[in-house]
Amino acid sequence: MALDIHTLRLDFPALAQSVNGHPLVYLDNAATTQKPQGVLDALNHYYQSQNANVHRAAHALSGQATHAFEAARSKVARFIHAPDAKHIIWTRGTTEAINLVAYSFGMHSLKAGDEILLSTLEHHANIVPWQQVAAATGAIIKVIPLTEHAELDLTAAAALFSTRTRLLAISQVSNALGVINPIKELIALAKQVGALTLVDGAQAVGHFPVDVQALDCDFYVFSGHKMFGPTGIGVLYGKRALLEQMPPWQTGGEMIRQVSFEHTSFGELPFKFEAGTPNIAGAIGLGAAIDYLSGLDRSILAEHEQSLLQQLLAGLTAMPDVHIIGRPAAGAVSFIIDDVHPQDLATLLDMQGIAVRTGHHCAMPLMQALGLSQGTIRASLAFYNTADDIAALLAGIDKAREFF
Ligand code: ALA
Repeated sequence: MALDIHTLRLDFPALAQSVNGHPLVYLDNAATTQKPQGVLDALNHYYQSQNANVHRAAHALSGQATHAFEAARSKVARFIHAPDAKHIIWTRGTTEAINLVAYSFGMHSLKAGDEILLSTLEHHANIVPWQQVAAATGAIIKVIPLTEHAELDLTAAAALFSTRTRLLAISQVSNALGVINPIKELIALAKQVGALTLVDGAQAVGHFPVDVQALDCDFYVFSGHKMFGPTGIGVLYGKRALLEQMPPWQTGGEMIRQVSFEHTSFGELPFKFEAGTPNIAGAIGLGAAIDYLSGLDRSILAEHEQSLLQQLLAGLTAMPDVHIIGRPAAGAVSFIIDDVHPQDLATLLDMQGIAVRTGHHCAMPLMQALGLSQGTIRASLAFYNTADDIAALLAGIDKAREFF
């Protein structure tokens, strides 16, 4: 299949607009991706024709809504190669999925002196919930340091694992630097000491296929909106035996079997973890995003993205005052420019219709470790970006430089 990006882009209405008098060049995909028409149609169809609550009422619309909602769960299971849909818990996003594990597993199972292993590359969402667990239980947080190339130091990581390590919580791809972490090796190290593993796949699922059984991680979490689906919907995948042992986190309707004022028994998986009316439209929209991706050859999309990444790296490397941070391999490229505040550059780029993110990228400890007090400028890619987008960014930087 030859890739016709210009035709594919027509599926994403938001891309075809002007911003500040210039055609939009959208390079903030690590923050959130644009949505294909099929996702917008699925959201609209649900609210226009199927709107009803799920799993509750004995009427036709509720049946249709429940069917679409549960079909989306099965699509997610197939998308990440989970054994079945019972392993898929709907959450509001990656952050809520990590909080669910932190509160249900961490608060109940960890004890003083137990160790939680994180990495310097983590997003705040994979740091702060564990700090809360550590504060409440007396568990200790250890952090895998970086090499001189801003990649995880595997030798140092190996030395940090011990029989006290109860959990490794690690991102698959760094949102801030676009580095792909060696999670297979780290998961193998965790298994040697009997630790559980949680993989934050928020920046991975939109870029390449994921197989949770091949990874053999215990938990895998991601957000719909970073893979062309709606905001407010995300996924916790967990191994069944673990999810069955874990107590509910939030409680209320939907997640129960039997309630009396004396005693409540909880529902089966996955409902035990889904209190209250869920984001039905969001789940259906995420299912539509998976349908959309499943209709494309993802290896060709990944090749295209790689060629854009190389074009961007080559263009930035040719600029003597630009410094690329680390060795980006997927999605995002972070850089700084001598004597230029990232926010000033972003404002000048925005005036040219070019969207990037600046600052600490919700990874303050990483920026501290790298000595980047002003953070970085981050351009982040999706398969619908083009060589013209990259050329526009590079030209935009040259133009902005005239102001400095
Ligand atoms: N985590 C998102 C980002 O990296 C918001 O921009």
